[in-house]
Amino acid sequence: MIPMPDMSKPCIAPSLLSANFACLGDEADKLLQGKADWLHFDVMDGRFVPNLSVGIPVLRSLRKVTMLPIDVHLMIVEPDDLLEDFAKAGADTLTVQVEACTHLHRTLQRVRALGCRAGVSLNPHTPIDVLDYVVEGLDFVLVMTVNPGFGGQSYIDACTPKIAEIRRRFPTLPIQVDGGINAKTIAKPAQAGASIFVSGSGVFSHDDYGVAIETLRRIAGQ
Ligand code: DX5
Ligand code: ZN
Repeated sequence: MIPMPDMSKPCIAPSLLSANFACLGDEADKLLQGKADWLHFDVMDGRFVPNLSVGIPVLRSLRKVTMLPIDVHLMIVEPDDLLEDFAKAGADTLTVQVEACTHLHRTLQRVRALGCRAGVSLNPHTPIDVLDYVVEGLDFVLVMTVNPGFGGQSYIDACTPKIAEIRRRFPTLPIQVDGGINAKTIAKPAQAGASIFVSGSGVFSHDDYGVAIETLRRIAGQ
């Protein structure tokens, strides 16, 4: 298994949703050179979210051309039947949306049994109480800071106190944030306690991904 970075220090996870899919291997290489910590791989099914993206064949191809950990964010309904295929295709983490899981506890157990780190994602409106009952099966929580489905949206400020509340109630649980994270916004979730930062347009809108990643990491660490 590919070693995971220390999740207690600021980790930058560029979202490939904003990459050029015609040359995904080159994009992954530039992100490795630019010292990205994870590659964030967004899977959308047109049902849980009103958009489609990429899935298992693309993940399998990507796995062959990068040594970076691949962080798979499943924005799909009924993820259970596909977990094994995503794990075999090369996922290092599997994050499911709590709103899409009827038996979340069992789903997280399956993710770990498949050898992947388990994450659960909460939409902006979803309360954090569910974490009380599954925290022992979790490697991290993902707080969505936009409504999932599209890159390039604006950070929702109401999510900042939610991050702080998770940090207060679960002092050692790594918190990932996803949506609208860029050099202007990253300080808010960082100061509230997040340590893993997904950024799509915030990285890919720059000519030099390494500079963008370094800037995000520096601000997050202040
Ligand atoms: C949104 C996805 C995100 C998206 C983030 O539904 O889960 O990972 O790519 O894009 P930005 O950083 O542009 O908001
Ligand atoms: Zn995502």
